[in-house]
Amino acid sequence: MPKIICGEAAGCINGGRLWDRMFDLAQYGALPNGGVNRQALCDEEILARHCLVRWGKAMGLEPSNDAAGNLFLRYRGTQPNLPAVMVGSHIDSQPTGGKFDGPYGVLAALESVEAIIDAGIRPQRNIDVVSWMNEEGSRFAPGMMGSAVFSGARKLEHILEIRDKAGISVERELKKVLAAEPDVPRRPLGDKPAAFLEAHIEQGTVIESANKTIGVVTGMQGKRTFHVYVTGEESHAGTSARRTRRDALVSAIDIVHALQQAMWDAEDVTQFTIGMFTVSPNAPSVVPGRVVFSLDLRHPDAAKLRDLGDEIPKICQAARGRCEASVSQLLHDPPLEFPAAIRQLLCTAASALGVGWMEMPSFAGHDSRYLHYVCPTGMIFIPCQDGISHNEVESIRKDDAMDGARVLAESVLALANATSAIWP
Ligand code: GLV
Ligand code: MN
Ligand code: MN
Repeated sequence: MPKIICGEAAGCINGGRLWDRMFDLAQYGALPNGGVNRQALCDEEILARHCLVRWGKAMGLEPSNDAAGNLFLRYRGTQPNLPAVMVGSHIDSQPTGGKFDGPYGVLAALESVEAIIDAGIRPQRNIDVVSWMNEEGSRFAPGMMGSAVFSGARKLEHILEIRDKAGISVERELKKVLAAEPDVPRRPLGDKPAAFLEAHIEQGTVIESANKTIGVVTGMQGKRTFHVYVTGEESHAGTSARRTRRDALVSAIDIVHALQQAMWDAEDVTQFTIGMFTVSPNAPSVVPGRVVFSLDLRHPDAAKLRDLGDEIPKICQAARGRCEASVSQLLHDPPLEFPAAIRQLLCTAASALGVGWMEMPSFAGHDSRYLHYVCPTGMIFIPCQDGISHNEVESIRKDDAMDGARVLAESVLALANATSAIWP
C-alpha cells in the first residue's frame, strides 16, 4: 500500500482557481440556462481542449493526444520510465448538460497536479492528467469511446465508423480535432498506466442525504444499451386505410409500452430509459415508415442484467404488430468492483484530511469502467445538489469541489511516489 503523505499537496489546493476554471471551461458550448452543450468532437470541444492545453503548458505540463482523441497533460516525474499514474475524466457533455459532469474530474486532476507543483514536489512517477474522448455517447453512441479504445476494450477502426444523427462519422470529426492540435505530439495507444483515479460529481443524492463530503466508489452497476429499429411503410394520411397501414410509430408505441411493463421494478433497482426516439419522415400527413429508439438498461446484478436484456428482442417481436422490428445491442458492460486497496487509499486520504466520507456504488457509468480492466482504478464522488445531473441546472458547492481535489491530490501523490509495482 502506498504511503499517504498528508497535507503537503492538499494544503496547496486552490479552491478559487479550480472553481474559476470550471466556469471558464463552461463558456465553450454555454447554453442560456447555465448549462453546456459540448457534445463529443464538436467545435466547442476543440476550443475547450485548447484551453486545457494552455493551462497545462502554463504549469509546465507536456501535452499529448492519441489516435482515439484522448488528451493528456504530463507532469514528468523523477523516474519517467516507470508507468504513469493517470487522473482525469471527460469534458464532453450531454446536449443539455451541466457544467460539472466530467469537467470537475479533469479540472480537479489539473488542480491536484498544480498543487503538487506549488508544494515543490516532483514525484517519482509521471502524472498524466487525462480528458477521455466521448464519455457521454450522446452524439456518437456508445459512450466512453476514448477510454474503451485506450484500454483495448474496443478497436479504433470500429469507433471510427460510428456516425451521428446527421451522418457525420467519428473518423471525420476526430481528424478535425487532432488537426486542430498541430503542436500536440501524438502518443501511441496501448499504454498501461500504474493506476487511474477519477473524481466526479455523484449525480445522485446518496452523499448529500448522509451529510458527507466524499463518496469513495466501491464499484459500478452494469449497463446494456440497444437501438430498436421499427420499419413499416410510408403512406398517405388521408387515403390509406387504417386497417392496412403499416405505421411504424403505432408499432413502436406498442413496443415501448410492452418494454416499460416488462422492465418495471417496484423496488426501483432496475433502471430503464428510452431517451432517444426518432420518427421518419416526421411529416404531419405521412404515415410514419420508420422509428429508431434507444434503450438504456442498468442493474447492479450481472445475471439480472443479462436476463432482462436478453428478453428485449423477444418483447419487441411480440409487440411489433404489422411492422418489422429489429434490435441491435451497442454495449453490454457487466457490474464491477474496484480493488479494495485503491478504495482503502482514498478512504485513508479523506480521513487524514478530516473530510467526511462514505463508501457507495456508482449508478452512473464512467471512464473508470474501462481503466479498471488495465490498471488499479478508483473513483471519488462529491455531492451534486439534489442529485440533479444531465440537466442544465446541475450544481455543486465550491467547498465540496475543493475537498474532493484535496483528497484526489494526496491520493495521486501517494500513487506517484510508489516506486515498485503498486499492486501484487
Ligand atoms: C454517463 O453519463 C452515464 O450515462 O452513466
Ligand atoms: Mn460524467
Ligand atoms: Mn454524464
